[in-house]
Amino acid sequence: MLPVLSVLLLLLSPAVAWIPVSDWESGSVSSSVGEAGQCICHVYLPDTTFPADRVQQMQEMVGYEGKLEVYLKELKDLTVRVSVLEGSSESYIKLDFELLRIELREFEALVSQLKHSLNSSSPIFDSLHTEILNMTNIVNQLESYDQSNLLLIRYEFAKLQKKLKECQEENDIIEPDIGNCNHTGILSISKPVVIQLNAHLSPSYQYGGWGKDSKPLRGYESMYFYGAYNTPAATAFNLYSDYDKLILRSAFKTHSLSSSWRATGNNYIVHGNAVYYQHNSPFSMTKLNLTSSAFDYRVIPAASARFSYSYSADQNLDFSADEIGLWVMYASEESKGKMVLAKINEKSFGIENEWKTGVFKEVAGNAFMACGVMYVTRSVDLSNEEIFYAFDTKTGEEKQLSIPFQKFQQAYSNLHYNPTDQKLYMYNNGYYVTYNVKFDKE
Ligand SMILES: *[C@@H]1O[C@H](CO)[C@@H](O)[C@H](O)[C@H]1NC(C)=O
Ligand SMILES: *[C@@H]1O[C@H](CO)[C@@H](O)[C@H](O)[C@H]1NC(C)=O
Ligand SMILES: *[C@@H]1O[C@H](CO)[C@@H](O)[C@H](O)[C@H]1NC(C)=O
Ligand SMILES: *[C@@H]1O[C@H](CO)[C@@H](O)[C@H](O)[C@H]1NC(C)=O
Repeated sequence: MLPVLSVLLLLLSPAVAWIPVSDWESGSVSSSVGEAGQCICHVYLPDTTFPADRVQQMQEMVGYEGKLEVYLKELKDLTVRVSVLEGSSESYIKLDFELLRIELREFEALVSQLKHSLNSSSPIFDSLHTEILNMTNIVNQLESYDQSNLLLIRYEFAKLQKKLKECQEENDIIEPDIGNCNHTGILSISKPVVIQLNAHLSPSYQYGGWGKDSKPLRGYESMYFYGAYNTPAATAFNLYSDYDKLILRSAFKTHSLSSSWRATGNNYIVHGNAVYYQHNSPFSMTKLNLTSSAFDYRVIPAASARFSYSYSADQNLDFSADEIGLWVMYASEESKGKMVLAKINEKSFGIENEWKTGVFKEVAGNAFMACGVMYVTRSVDLSNEEIFYAFDTKTGEEKQLSIPFQKFQQAYSNLHYNPTDQKLYMYNNGYYVTYNVKFDKE
């Protein structure tokens, strides 16, 4: 999937220079600083399926300039063909093709943009041209791939995204200000990054959650968790040692929940190597210690099981962790359904402080904490959501906001912020989705 790479390099960082890769070595990544001080990323990928001979022939057939139109049209045609294929495929293949179509559309838009902004005499144009040609070939081949190949492609694509990210971080193109709360709150949310359908490859597993530990133990920094089911109940939590294992659906541990410890609502998170979740008998906040596999619970007397968020039933206790610590959000009879925000004392596993907010839980899609501020979301339409409310625990002030973000599918059951990478993690109707959060530094 090399061709995808350079397009992404250009997309994510206009400062990155494209150095044509001359070798098909085993997958590796390195980086250096170019003469003009720009970042240069070299990525070598193993590629056994690549139709090298055909590309060679086609390269000879076409000239360099003025041909982008042709490939744009080819890409469009392919989009149509992929959607025709959909009709006859199994449901999860259908969903994978849906993702593929989105990617195709994005590439197409990118190419149009580049076509206008790049000089045809620029050397970058030639390699880009070849890249698009190569990519078109790969997409062509996709039509005949079966399900397992499709999965392999998704895996390769995800690997590329990860390598690209590593490469950029090495060069400080992205300067995440991790842990810093010296800002006035969230400014914007990036476009969603849709990673893939859940580890059960089941579109019917609409309810679930995924993410990373917000305060990982040493050695567990790259661990991911995931759980999902076809009802708001959660029956197991799966743990993956890193991103690749998540994509490969290869868990190193699955904690199955017996009926007496079954989770519900899917607003769980992992913090300090423990899952914090809601369970219903008794109705309480529960901690599953992933080190000892021990369970513990606390009843929050005021919390009511009557008020849920708008996308799912049983979302009564919503757990969140940020730069400040661990929190739980709920509504009570006394607050008449308005959200109450509580700080959890991790040592005693008790509530150490509480704030009454002015927002009704049932109008909210979900909520999360970042730097001691509670942010609440709601639906705008089928594909758009917004943060519409914030409550600052430092000042006790509340604010009406309108910070939009896109959804991949309408409903989602788990949305939380992770202070270790300043990303939002969403379980969007079966798909893993992330967003980058941008804070207002003024
Ligand atoms: C496109 O594919 C050909 C054939 O495999 C390869 O030689 C070439 O390096 C690729 N183009 C780029 C810019 O990677
Ligand atoms: C485009 O190409 C022309 C001729 O090669 C050059 O003079 C001009 O500076 C280029 N423009 C940009 C934006 O690179
Ligand atoms: C916070 O940011 C402002 C503006 O960027 C800066 O002037 C100030 O020194 C910063 N304060 C701290 C404690 O870092
Ligand atoms: C989990 O259990 C281990 C071993 O008993 C203990 O050291 C650790 O503090 C526990 N963690 C939490 C978050 O309760």
